[in-house]
Amino acid sequence: MTNTTLSDSDFFLIRGGERLKGTVRVSGSKNASLPIMMATLLTEEPCVIRNVPILLDVKNAIELLEILGVDVKFENHTVYVEAKNVGSYFAPDYVVRRMRASILVAGPLLARLGRAVVGMPGGCSIGARSIDQHLKVFEKGGTTINVKGGYIHMEVENIRPVEHTFEVITVTGTENALMFLSRCEKRSVLRNVALEPEVMDLVEVLRKMGVEIEVEGRTMIIRGNEDLRGFDHTVIPDRIEAGTLAVAGFITGGDVVLEGVCPKHMGSQLEKLKEAGATVELLGLDRIRVIGGGKINPLEISTSEYPGFPTDMQAQFMVLCCIADGISQITENIFENRFQHVNELQRMGARISLRGKTAIVFGQDRLSGAEVFSTDLRASASLVLAGLVAEGTTIVREIYHLDRGYERLEEKLKSLGACIERVTYARSTG
Ligand code: EPU
Repeated sequence: MTNTTLSDSDFFLIRGGERLKGTVRVSGSKNASLPIMMATLLTEEPCVIRNVPILLDVKNAIELLEILGVDVKFENHTVYVEAKNVGSYFAPDYVVRRMRASILVAGPLLARLGRAVVGMPGGCSIGARSIDQHLKVFEKGGTTINVKGGYIHMEVENIRPVEHTFEVITVTGTENALMFLSRCEKRSVLRNVALEPEVMDLVEVLRKMGVEIEVEGRTMIIRGNEDLRGFDHTVIPDRIEAGTLAVAGFITGGDVVLEGVCPKHMGSQLEKLKEAGATVELLGLDRIRVIGGGKINPLEISTSEYPGFPTDMQAQFMVLCCIADGISQITENIFENRFQHVNELQRMGARISLRGKTAIVFGQDRLSGAEVFSTDLRASASLVLAGLVAEGTTIVREIYHLDRGYERLEEKLKSLGACIERVTYARSTG
């Protein structure tokens, strides 16, 4: 098997056909942890962040904070940060390239030091992913911005209050703007903001630090505070990991209980699962049970900002549609290039036709195991799900993409009865 290895990344070997059964605990949210970790740059006081998943992106964020001169300790899913001294305002290109969320240091660095130099986040495989909306808020607040040698140089003397309407709804753009304005004591207004649970988790943290934030529909009114406090915060559950495991339970005809979830963050996903034929039971405030086994109905899915159907679940639901009883239609409205899993699913026998931003998925009884390649984080999750329901063996390569955003996914699936192994690539010395 290892003779066919094409890269030095680990890969998964999956034998499909097992029904998943049992209980599994969902980790804390990656996309909530990252901005909250960056928010620690805003205060000299110690901060404690609990329920942080152990992931490559979290390790990258720690490395970045350390580069900026901050003390960080990560133990038992808890990050302890003390940014008494922020010794640098330079976020090197090699970290920003690894993780686009590194751009989230810009807002806090400008608020704390008045300066930030951040590697230009390049295009990402799922789309162009510009940061013009982040920069517009910084500029309105008095920041001068120059792009030189692949770096964005930003400088501001006194941050002015801002009134701004985002031209597109952006998650990290809203988060960066909030952190940028968090020490400006005059009233700022942001309109057309993102309201994803991960953004609201950051809002809660900023409030704990002493920032006043009112949220009225898609408008936020911010009154910052020069002397921000430290905080102790438990990160919300990862609704995308929960959704991925829920789809896994359903499509394998299984019966799984997910613990440590927040069902109210999963509204649109759970609706679609039920429409597809799943039985979904809410067991108290933080547990759900998902049961499959009957017919899988085709779906019409259109991704949109929260509370709409999340783009981060589009690839996983596509696998469900591949084995549904009929024709499904999936429209991706957030990112222009987020169908890279389609090619790989086709290698597994899926019948999918792409028409612009819409995929028409012709459901069939089964997929067949193949060697497939991950192209991005959620695409890799979809290939794992496809492997679980495919006939025969599937090899999912380049799973470093998956390791950026899922904590021990294979162990969680294995604990539910899946037949999945991580094969660690050992570079040949011969
Ligand atoms: N956009 C602009 N200009 C900007 C910012 C965004 O045109 O200044 C566009 C983007 O190109 C995209 C749309 O607006 O078409 C939405 O992008 P957004 O800024 O909301 O995405 P993001 O903040 O870069 C976060 C998550 C993504 C998730 C999206 C959408 C983090 C660290 N990342 O990205 O998560 O898909 O919001 O919900 O929070 C993932 O976890 O797999 C992932 C990609």
